[in-house]
Amino acid sequence: MILNTELEYKGNMFPSKIISYKKNLDTLSFTAENNVVLQVTVQRDSILRFRYSTTGVFDKDFSYAITKYASRGYNFLEVTEDVDKYIITTSKITCHIAKLDMRTAIYDVKDNTLICEDELGFHWEESYELGGDIVKMSKTAQEGESYYGLGDKPVDNNLKGKRFENWVTDSYAYGKNTDPIYKAIPFYTGLHHKKSYGIFFDNTFRTFFDFCNERRNITSFWAQGGEMNYYFIYGPQMTDVVSYYTDLTGKPHELPALWTLGYHQCKWSYYPEAKVKEITGKFRELQIPCDAIYLDIDYMEGFRCFTWSKEYFPDPKRMVKELADDGFKTIVIIDPGIKIDKEYSVFQEGMDKDYFCKRADGPYMKGKVWPGECYFPDFTNPEVREWWSDLFKELVEDIGVKGVWNDMNEPAVMDVPGKTFPNDVRHDYDGNRCSHRKAHNVYGMQMARATYQGLKKFAYPKRPFVITRAAYSGTQRYTSSWTGDNVASWEHLTIANIQAQRMCMSGFSFIGSDIGGFAEQPNGELYARWIQLGIFHPFCRTHSSGDHGDQEPWAFGTNITNIVRKFIEIRYQLLPYLYTAFWRYANEGVPILKSLVLFDQTDTHTHYRNDEFICGEKILACPITEPNAKGRRMYFPVGNWYSMWNDELFEGGQELWVEADLDSMPIFIKEGAIIPKYPIQQYVGEKPIDELVLDVYYKEGEETSQVFEDAQDGYDYIKGRYSLRDFKLVGKESSVIIQQFKSGKYITPYETLKIKFHGLPFKISKIQIDNEDVLFEDVKLNGDNTIIVSKEFTELHIVA
Ligand code: GLC
Repeated sequence: MILNTELEYKGNMFPSKIISYKKNLDTLSFTAENNVVLQVTVQRDSILRFRYSTTGVFDKDFSYAITKYASRGYNFLEVTEDVDKYIITTSKITCHIAKLDMRTAIYDVKDNTLICEDELGFHWEESYELGGDIVKMSKTAQEGESYYGLGDKPVDNNLKGKRFENWVTDSYAYGKNTDPIYKAIPFYTGLHHKKSYGIFFDNTFRTFFDFCNERRNITSFWAQGGEMNYYFIYGPQMTDVVSYYTDLTGKPHELPALWTLGYHQCKWSYYPEAKVKEITGKFRELQIPCDAIYLDIDYMEGFRCFTWSKEYFPDPKRMVKELADDGFKTIVIIDPGIKIDKEYSVFQEGMDKDYFCKRADGPYMKGKVWPGECYFPDFTNPEVREWWSDLFKELVEDIGVKGVWNDMNEPAVMDVPGKTFPNDVRHDYDGNRCSHRKAHNVYGMQMARATYQGLKKFAYPKRPFVITRAAYSGTQRYTSSWTGDNVASWEHLTIANIQAQRMCMSGFSFIGSDIGGFAEQPNGELYARWIQLGIFHPFCRTHSSGDHGDQEPWAFGTNITNIVRKFIEIRYQLLPYLYTAFWRYANEGVPILKSLVLFDQTDTHTHYRNDEFICGEKILACPITEPNAKGRRMYFPVGNWYSMWNDELFEGGQELWVEADLDSMPIFIKEGAIIPKYPIQQYVGEKPIDELVLDVYYKEGEETSQVFEDAQDGYDYIKGRYSLRDFKLVGKESSVIIQQFKSGKYITPYETLKIKFHGLPFKISKIQIDNEDVLFEDVKLNGDNTIIVSKEFTELHIVA
């Protein structure tokens, strides 16, 4: 007999029999004899929200995660009743609620597949230690079920068999399987019988998830307080689950400026000014593209946020301007800890206005961070966020800083047990006063939000750029993020790859790792391999703790410099491709990186893969994660794939050996794809884009591709000033037709498209544009299957 620990635990309490049912618009309430109430809200046909109260009364409904822009409304809703259950039907799902004990079961409405079913269902334990309830939920795992998501967990993609905790934690030099680390994203997707659904447990207390670890066929989640409040999201496509979740918790409020997708260079720390200039000068001298340079804590006066060290940076405005003239955007770090110093205006203002966090019995929450003893703004107070946002005026508007990097916002405190605030610290929580137990996981998110508000205000009409280390679900609306203090090891290269994929499938695509590793020092080979991966991550930045030597592209000898340059150049060429992927993410919530399981959930081979991923829609990449490798084995998902290096064609659905010396990496393009490219620039905006290159990969069959462009910054695109090219390719044995559908009011600066055909099985003998024959010399066809055509064409026809 399997020991059912959870059931036998005597402290658990359960809902009893349902005695009444009410319907109010989209919300159904079921009340049990023992006062438990289950509220089911039909958010969309495929999204149900489940909320339980153990007392018959619900707290005020408030969430930092759910965006006011979330889609709402359904096409169909019907509630029926039979002897033992209520049945809720939408156009996508059927949900059964047992009258006996409120247990639920959800089915696909079309074919009746059981998707997700309560085991014990909702239960709770009164917590004498913490006050309130420990709220719990358990579900039966379905046959062959796999689990994905949960933010930044540094573990293999598939979470099955593991157990996790969400408590945002500063985790210097974390390792594989360290848990918890910096982020709390209590959202996972389950996949079985080729169908996928998601669960978002919107509870900011310390939460726990168990995927068949404690008990073989049971998945459970619980929290040390708050409500059992979760959203069930049905796909059945996993990409839809992720994009519905992203719709619910928010897409980035604006596109990132194009330069933010360039390469960023960082270290703890570049100072004084002469050192910063030496670094930026070297990038230009060696012609290694770079758009952003970072100042870590040493730019400040005694680590006081919003100040500048007079000794190291006597004239920041001039320096920032000179860097900008050379194409570098300056990004500075801002931490939450405010130094206790009566002479320091930010501190004094915070005191005067009563904006710092306090302990339950009244004293300020005092803790040591870089500046020594600090107080901490309560970012969960909207008034504090407003004040904080105004502090950026000088930095952004006057000095010209282009981005702000929020760190230590878990919050990390060095001299307090648990390395964060004690549980009794009070927070405003937007008027819903509470203790740190509830506010901890959102503290960093609200800091990043306040910073974002500041950048948005003072960078306008340019777009804001913020980076955060800590995050809760929904933080992707305001900011980008990195995976924190990793280590310069081969294992961490693998971890960085999985973390970036996992963040993307957790709704947070603007993510990258400290390339090369933060702690310790990589050798040239590891650094080069990491850059190769990093160019496919939405946020691409080298960063290091700086105490183990240099970590610039030139720090490892000429051979490595050349390899690093070559890959950063590839990134710059791919900027329109990456930007288009970002636009899809910001518009539709489609993750920028797709683990193979997201790409093809029907292929069980993908369910346990970690290394290969799809960047955007058409590029398959797989990093080399071992030293001395000349190549590796990798899995090709469904479809046919061209090597980016030599157009060799690989058939999907199998694992194959791929060559990849140190100056190469397995990169493949999906057949039929049209990949847009810009010329190599040293920074975004260096050169006018006088031609858009389109790499066209032949396919026998059909394929669609998109290219999104706009002014690369600013808000005009929202008013329709963007250019969207939708391409449809139809390849036959002896012809290729490309149709172009254009929309948007932005006029691209170039007049022509340079179209390069790859993998053509025939020699071109005739070309037609918009139904008219053209001469080869008119399109400059010269033997390498490249032609130059007007950007306005609607149909291009090449024939054998
Ligand atoms: C933290 C950050 C790291 C930064 C350092 C100094 O460790 O994670 O990126 O360089 O603090 O500010």
